[in-house]
Amino acid sequence: MSFHNHRNPLLDISEYYLPLDMKEVFHNTNESALEIGFGDGDFLLETARKNSKLNFIGLEIKRSRFQNAVKRAKKEEAENIKFLHMDAKIALDEVFKPSTFSIVYINFPDPWPKDKQKKHRIINNKFLERLSQIMKTNGVLEIASDHRDYINHILEVFKGIGSYKSVYPPPGYTNTLPDRPETKFETEYRTEGRNIYYLAYLNQREIT
Ligand SMILES: C[S@@+](CC[C@H](N)C(=O)[O-])C[C@H]1O[C@@H](n2cnc3c(N)ncnc32)[C@H](O)[C@@H]1O
Repeated sequence: MSFHNHRNPLLDISEYYLPLDMKEVFHNTNESALEIGFGDGDFLLETARKNSKLNFIGLEIKRSRFQNAVKRAKKEEAENIKFLHMDAKIALDEVFKPSTFSIVYINFPDPWPKDKQKKHRIINNKFLERLSQIMKTNGVLEIASDHRDYINHILEVFKGIGSYKSVYPPPGYTNTLPDRPETKFETEYRTEGRNIYYLAYLNQREIT
């Protein structure tokens, strides 16, 4: 007997054995996608709506944003999204099975622009190595940011990791992706006239 609630978009990991088996969470064998730091959830909700044959997990650390997105998902009766209120760094280490995700999105990660703050940036060597483990081989990691210095940092970090291959030729990004749903931060930055950088990497980790 299963006591998991299909209709509830809130993911309560205490109901499952860890690491999570997406077949148990979604009751299907569809491929899975992950968004890290979904903010108000616009992008996640729209992307999930457009891709009804994919299972989506959204991770967000900030309670108010998390709760708003869950409320909206309930109203929209979105069946292919589960929301997890958790620090992504912990979730990557503890919650997901290896080779789980076919696609991962990180949209406008906090840039922590000051020198003293840069150590807080979520995208670093350890994080990407860990992410590579829970992604499927040939899965895609998409990152968007307006912050040129952070983008440079991210490009450098990827250069030091052999298991990812950039989808875009040098310089390793594109500034337009017309069919991509806009995130809330993206809309704000576009209105201000800022350039947006989109990165995409194939996970080429060999399964050992
Ligand atoms: C600049 S906002 C971008 C929000 C959204 N992706 C967008 O583009 O509109 C960065 C988001 O990442 C979330 N975040 C930061 N660190 C996180 C972490 N360790 N785990 C999960 N979410 C995190 C923040 O709470 C915030 O909502």
